[in-house]
Amino acid sequence: MEDLKYDGTERLAVDYVEGILQPTPTCDTWDQIWNFQARPDDLLISTYPKAGTTWTQEIVDLIQNEGDIDRSQRAPTHERFPFIEWKIPGMESGLEQANAMPSPRILKTHLPIHLLPPSFLEKNCKIIYVARNPKDSMVSYYHFHRMNKGLPAPGTWEEYFESFLAGDVCWGSWFEHVKGWWDAKDQHRILYLFYEDMKRNPKHEILKLAEFIGKSLDDKVLDKIVHYSSFDVMKQNPMANYTSIPAPFMNHSISPFMRKGAVGDWKNHFTVAQNERFDEDHKRKMADTTLTSHIRFL
Ligand code: A3P
Repeated sequence: MEDLKYDGTERLAVDYVEGILQPTPTCDTWDQIWNFQARPDDLLISTYPKAGTTWTQEIVDLIQNEGDIDRSQRAPTHERFPFIEWKIPGMESGLEQANAMPSPRILKTHLPIHLLPPSFLEKNCKIIYVARNPKDSMVSYYHFHRMNKGLPAPGTWEEYFESFLAGDVCWGSWFEHVKGWWDAKDQHRILYLFYEDMKRNPKHEILKLAEFIGKSLDDKVLDKIVHYSSFDVMKQNPMANYTSIPAPFMNHSISPFMRKGAVGDWKNHFTVAQNERFDEDHKRKMADTTLTSHIRFL
């Protein structure tokens, strides 16, 4: 039976894959996603939602194209980088896009490591993981839920705060996600980066990415990449700011995809009580990892 078309007027329903909340079309096709066949020269960009995925994709594309903006503007982000677990009824899925794409491919996932299709690690693919501090991730994710019909309605900020802390949001708990990938990074070809480092010293992090990818960049190209991947320039770039997605799906007048691009916006959202509660929870959930010292809130 042909899938019913999703027209973006309703929110997608959600369900669980092994305890992780996902849009139902992803749950319904989970076997195919789990059995996805990575190729050895695939480059995977993995993040918990709102960690700076799009930013990293743009940087990596600019590195591959040696700062040639015309080539990186060949198509919108969601077409250049198949999002492997993403499926909207009636549209080409991330898997279909990936399977049709010639190598070398740059793919995207938000899956926690234990749900990553095993072929990525079996084929020893290079993986870039980006983490962002959880308070800013929560704020960014909340606003993204408001404008994106592909995710459940967030409820009030207070309700969303509780759902995020409980890990009862799509792609699960931020804490489990960042810890799981952190634990895996030394056994696999994983470059683990932080949004806050990218903000503080983009040149340095771009060079790390280029080295990991195996590209050397001269100063002129590097400066171009810093420029074209900056927040203000990407916000105006229709191939990188998600304005190519029709308004019923993503409504930028509710909250633009390229919203603030800042570190510390959580301070404009968290009450003192929420912040205390968050810090307590964070301390408890991050007690068993060396990752804690790398997480910066401002
Ligand atoms: P805010 O909502 O805090 O502004 P993702 O791509 O993983 O969905 O992440 C989106 C977040 O990254 C949004 O955060 C967005 O503004 C921010 N972002 C996108 N491009 C950026 C850039 N070039 N520099 C800094 N932040 C960027």
